[in-house]
Amino acid sequence: MLEALAVYVGASVLVYVAIIIYRHKVRSQLRHVPGPWYCALSSLPYMVLFALGIQLEWLRRLHDQYGPLVRVAPDILSARSVEAARTILGTHKFVKGAMYNNCAFTGHPNLLSVTEPVLYKAKHRMIAPMFSKVAIDEMESIVIAAGAEPLVERLQRHADTGDIVNVHQLFCYMAFDVVSDVVFGRNIRLLEDDNGGDNMLTWTLSMLLLQLAQIPLGERVASWIFPRLAIQRKKVIKFGLDAIRERLGTETVRVDALQRFLAAARPSVGEEVAAPAATSELELAGELILQLQAGTDTTANCCTWTIHALLEHPKALERLRAELDAAIPDASAPITHKMLKDLAYLNAVLNESLRLYPTATADAHRVVPESGAKLCGHFLPAKINVFASQYLLNRWEQLWPQPDAFQPERWLVEDEVLNEQKHAFFPFSTGARACVGRHLAQLELRVAIASLVRRFNLERVPGDDMTPRCIFALTPRGQALNIRVTHRH
Ligand code: HEM
Repeated sequence: MLEALAVYVGASVLVYVAIIIYRHKVRSQLRHVPGPWYCALSSLPYMVLFALGIQLEWLRRLHDQYGPLVRVAPDILSARSVEAARTILGTHKFVKGAMYNNCAFTGHPNLLSVTEPVLYKAKHRMIAPMFSKVAIDEMESIVIAAGAEPLVERLQRHADTGDIVNVHQLFCYMAFDVVSDVVFGRNIRLLEDDNGGDNMLTWTLSMLLLQLAQIPLGERVASWIFPRLAIQRKKVIKFGLDAIRERLGTETVRVDALQRFLAAARPSVGEEVAAPAATSELELAGELILQLQAGTDTTANCCTWTIHALLEHPKALERLRAELDAAIPDASAPITHKMLKDLAYLNAVLNESLRLYPTATADAHRVVPESGAKLCGHFLPAKINVFASQYLLNRWEQLWPQPDAFQPERWLVEDEVLNEQKHAFFPFSTGARACVGRHLAQLELRVAIASLVRRFNLERVPGDDMTPRCIFALTPRGQALNIRVTHRH
C-alpha cells in the first residue's frame, strides 16, 4: 500500500515538474508576443471567460490594447488579422487543437473533430455530397416542407390568437426539424409538438453540455456526475443508429442526404483502405448526429439575430419588405429559393446579420505545425494554439466603419473597399475546414426570413436580454426573442 502511494506521489511530482518545465519553455519562446501578464502565467482567466461564453468582447479590448497578436493563455494566441486568419484556416498545415477532441461523442473521430488529414479527406468525401449545391437544390422541397412551411403555419396560429411567441425557440425547432428530416430521413416535427420540452433537441443540447463538462472532468467522470445527460446522449445515438439500420433495410426512392451519405459510405465501411471514412455503424451515426449539432444552433441563431436586427431598424425592415413584395406579388403563393437567391437587399441583410453576429464564432483553435510559423510579424514555435475569430475581424473599425452598426446598405456599394471587406468575411469559415452545410443554411435562412417578413407584421415585445453570448453558437443571453405577429393580408 505504502509502495503504491510512493509510486503515485513520485509520478505526480514528475508530471508536475514536466508541466512546469514545458510551461517555462513555452513562456520564454513566446516572450515577444504581447498580452496581459496574468495570461502568460495561467490559462484560467481565458478558460473561465470561454466557458461562460463572454470571451469575445474581452478579446476585442485586448487586441485594441496590444495589437494584432495577443497571448491569451501560456500557449494560446489570438490573432486579429485577415492574413493570419487565412493562413491558419486556409490549409491542413494548422490542424485543429485538442479542444475538438471533446466533439467526438461516440468515441470515434468525426468530420468536425478529426485532425489527421488523410482520414479527414476520406470523411469529407463521404459527407460533402450530402450538402453539395446540387444536392441542396434537389432537396429544396424537402427542406421547405420540413422548415419554413410549418414555421409559417405555426405563426399563422399565433397571428390568429394574437398571443406572444418566442420566435427564437421556433427557429431552433425549425432548424432541427430540417436537419433531422434531410439527414436522418425522419422529421421530428418539433414545430408541431415539442413534447413538453422532452425531445431530441433538448437531448442533443444535453450532449453538448456533457461535452463541455468533459473538458475539465474527462469522459468517464463527466458521465458519472451527470448521468441524466449521459442517458440523453445514448438516446440520440440510438436515434442515429436506428435511422441508418432502417434505411439500409429498405428500398427507398427518397433522394435525401442520408441516401447520398450511405451511398458514399458503403464502399469504405470495413474496407481495407488507407483510411476508411468510418469503420462501424456507430461511427456513421456519429457523423449524422454531428450534423444535428452543427446545423441547428448556428442556423437558428442566425434567424433570431436577423429578425432582432430588423426590428431594431424599421427602415431596413421596410426596404426588405418592399423588395419581397415586388419579388413575390401573390402573398399566398409558395415561396421558393429561386425567387429569393438573387435578391440584393435580402442577401445584404443576411450578410450584415452574419457580420455582426457570426453564429459559429467559438474560438476555433489550430496548432502551429512542426516547422513553426510566422504570424503578424512573430515567429511561433510548433504546437502553440492559435485562433482568429470571425467576430473580432467583423467588429474591427480598421475593416468596417462603424463596426457595431447594422447597415445592410454597406453590402450594396460594389467597390474596392467592399472587395477587401469580402476577403475578410467568412462566417462559414474558409479553406480546408470550411462549413459543409453552408448551402443548406443559406437556403433555410433566405426562405425563413423572407416568409416571415413577407407574410406577417412583426412587433417587438420589450424585455428580452439580447446580449450576445458564445455558448457553442453566438446566442442571445436571454435565449428568447419574443414578438407579436399579425397577418399582413
Ligand atoms: C448559419 C448557419 C451556419 C454557420 C454560420 C456555420 C458556420 C460554420 C463554421 C464557421 C465552421 C468551422 C468551425 C470550426 O472550424 O471550428 C463550420 C463547420 C461545420 N459546419 Fe457549419 N455553419 C452553419 C450551418 C451548418 C449546417 C446547416 C450544417 C449541416 C447540417 C453544418 C455543418 C458543419 C460541419 C459538419 C462542420 C465541420 C466541417 C469540418 O471541420 O470540415 N453547418 N460551420
